[in-house]
Amino acid sequence: MSAIHEPDLQLGAVDEALAKGWTIPASWYADASVYSLELERIFGRAWTLVGPEQQLANPGDHIIAQAGHVPVVVTRDLEGELHGFVNVCRHRAYPVATEDGCRKLLQCAYHAWTYELDGRLNRAPRAEAEPGFDKADFSLVPVSVDTWGPLVWVNPDPHAPPLREAYPGFESLAAEHGMDFSGYTYHSRSSYSIPANWKVWVENASECYHCPTIHQHSFSDAYEVAHGVYEYRNEGKVLCQLTPPNAKGERFGLAGQEYRYWYLFPSTFLQMDDFYTSAGRVHPTGVESCVTDGDSWLQPGLDPAAVAEWDEMWRMTMQEDIDAVAIQQPNLRSGLVPHGRLMPSSESAIAHFHRLCFEALRERLA
Ligand code: FES
Ligand SMILES: [Fe+2]
Repeated sequence: MSAIHEPDLQLGAVDEALAKGWTIPASWYADASVYSLELERIFGRAWTLVGPEQQLANPGDHIIAQAGHVPVVVTRDLEGELHGFVNVCRHRAYPVATEDGCRKLLQCAYHAWTYELDGRLNRAPRAEAEPGFDKADFSLVPVSVDTWGPLVWVNPDPHAPPLREAYPGFESLAAEHGMDFSGYTYHSRSSYSIPANWKVWVENASECYHCPTIHQHSFSDAYEVAHGVYEYRNEGKVLCQLTPPNAKGERFGLAGQEYRYWYLFPSTFLQMDDFYTSAGRVHPTGVESCVTDGDSWLQPGLDPAAVAEWDEMWRMTMQEDIDAVAIQQPNLRSGLVPHGRLMPSSESAIAHFHRLCFEALRERLA
């Protein structure tokens, strides 16, 4: 994407605004050229969660996903090795896999080129009639693959540093707060379309300043949301939120474990509480739209009635957040309120997130 149009981001003015506790410009949530830059400079080099490794348990298993604007396929080859590729045929850009599954070869459905699970071109029909055609020149384009816990991640950059180097503070924070999927059993996958720019969604998830209002009868019925109790820890590309259950939460039978939330810039959300642990992501799907989806795991032996009530608490919380960002998005387009004023004692994670976005866009503009 080197031919990308470089918008005038007015970085000096934005730098000053961020330093004063203001938001990034409203135009950055609705401008197609900013969005293109983000796909290239943020998502094009970032680790994206693609799903649970249990979906790749057997040789031949493969799953498809999006890493920003890049379609990917992750395979388990016949020797048990994991591989990741851009899910684009080397012939004429059809995907080589259109759904998750298990096969010995990947076959493009357009003209039937087939690929080994390690990406090598196995066969192109009628290739024998093409002088000089060398299969070795047309392997699938690789992407980086890594794992953490039960989760598989990809990075479109084939030379990306490993996940643990990209998020050096994450494992120690996770260990400190018992972020461990072992003992949980797989529960379900959920997916929501969000009518807002991906950053609006991340910001909503980065503060609980709105919890006493928006989530008065949902999240706030389970956990402490008061200023000074609800804790934020912002370290590098890892933003963490922690809070204990409140008195109302006792009706769910909470055992007193804190709610733990991690955001790994730019797209990953991990959460854990007494009932669930979940791993989700945000996929930008347009300047003013995104999808958030994820998988959840359940503690074994829970009372099904309590789980149903807990599910409903989270369903309400999610819907309230979606409704809020859907209202914000068109207002960001008005152009007459170019910056919001953050409340850093409650919104430090948003300030940190804005600085990460700013630095990522600035990094390659110089
Ligand atoms: S596009 Fe894949 S075989 Fe033609
Ligand atoms: Fe919320």
